[in-house]
Amino acid sequence: MSSLLVRNVGELVTNDPTLGDGTPLGLLRDAALVVEGGRVVWVGPSADAPAADAVQDVGGRAVIPGFVDSHSHLVFAGDRSAEFAARMSGTPYSAGGIRTTVAATRAATDEQLTAHVARHVEEMRRQGTTTVEIKSGYGLTVRDEARALAIARAFTEETTFLGAHVVPEEYATDPAGYVDLVTGPMLAAAAGHARWIDVFCETGAFDVDQARTILEAGAAAGLRGRLHANQLGHGPGVQLACDLELVAVDHCTFLDDRDVAALGDTGTVATLLPGVEFSTRSPYPDARRLLDAGVVVALASDCNPGSCYTSSMPLCVALAVREMRMTPAEALWAATAGGARALARDDVGRLAPGSCAHFAVLDAPSYVHLAYRPGVPLVLDVHGPRPPA
Ligand code: NIG
Ligand code: FE
Repeated sequence: MSSLLVRNVGELVTNDPTLGDGTPLGLLRDAALVVEGGRVVWVGPSADAPAADAVQDVGGRAVIPGFVDSHSHLVFAGDRSAEFAARMSGTPYSAGGIRTTVAATRAATDEQLTAHVARHVEEMRRQGTTTVEIKSGYGLTVRDEARALAIARAFTEETTFLGAHVVPEEYATDPAGYVDLVTGPMLAAAAGHARWIDVFCETGAFDVDQARTILEAGAAAGLRGRLHANQLGHGPGVQLACDLELVAVDHCTFLDDRDVAALGDTGTVATLLPGVEFSTRSPYPDARRLLDAGVVVALASDCNPGSCYTSSMPLCVALAVREMRMTPAEALWAATAGGARALARDDVGRLAPGSCAHFAVLDAPSYVHLAYRPGVPLVLDVHGPRPPA
């Protein structure tokens, strides 16, 4: 097995406070790391670095853990740019737009969907994302949900069954029948291809009782729960996520004091998706309030054709800093270690001996440039899993 020494790292973000400056980012200056067999085997000052079979000199640039994007909806077909344009002229976002994508996705071939996911995973990788969660949710039949997950599985272990995205057209008059389908045959077909189960708990999608039923059925089938909640208005979804002690609850745009306290008490990760607020021209979640209450915050892209069609974690970091009053350090942590927490992973989102050697070299002296230079493609090189050819 050959080893690689990455040296002359001006600023290394380890996300391990014991390795660096004692802050959550665990910063090391003039650092190096050694990689072998896909894992980090050594981290420390450049001057002390051991010899290795190969050397990459990064010229004083910053190195960060690869982004862990814990929320995306990449298995889809079609285009909703007209809906976006209408929204920018005043039409509000609603959950109903999902049905447009469902029709296009059902009509697509496996090959088309696979090529589409591959293109987006590669697009993410170019922007520094090395771990991505991918949801189903645009098939909404037993066959189409199972195939979406099988396709996603070829790209990531972090696949999520989201049969409960919206009630499809053909069940419009029988939502209870659709919940029976999701918790019965659809779950049975999906479970083998998924690690997680999710529900869109929102007005126009699924109510809190339906969400509980679906998450409990998923748990019985061996899937861990996560939830879309409190996106379009205040609702009971965040409380449900905390009651069920889910790993993460996503969106969290509209929270009251009880929600914030419950998140702090349970340790359920609040995953904020600022690309959604940007792309739907909505108020941003109050990240400062969450952080000040000790809630674990993650940032993710929510890349999807409706509410937010960006795959860029650097954009999410910049938005979180500028619009949500997160510090650059908090935002980077949330987009890397926070995402790992939201996926219950401790092997990614950090660069310490034993962790996966998933990292990005920035064409910048510091990670702060991700927010300081918004919109600039700063990711120069990425080490991490290669998507299947
Ligand atoms: O996370 N909220 C539910 N699902 C997506 C939107 C999906 C769509 O509009 O197609 C989201 O925002
Ligand atoms: Fe989503």
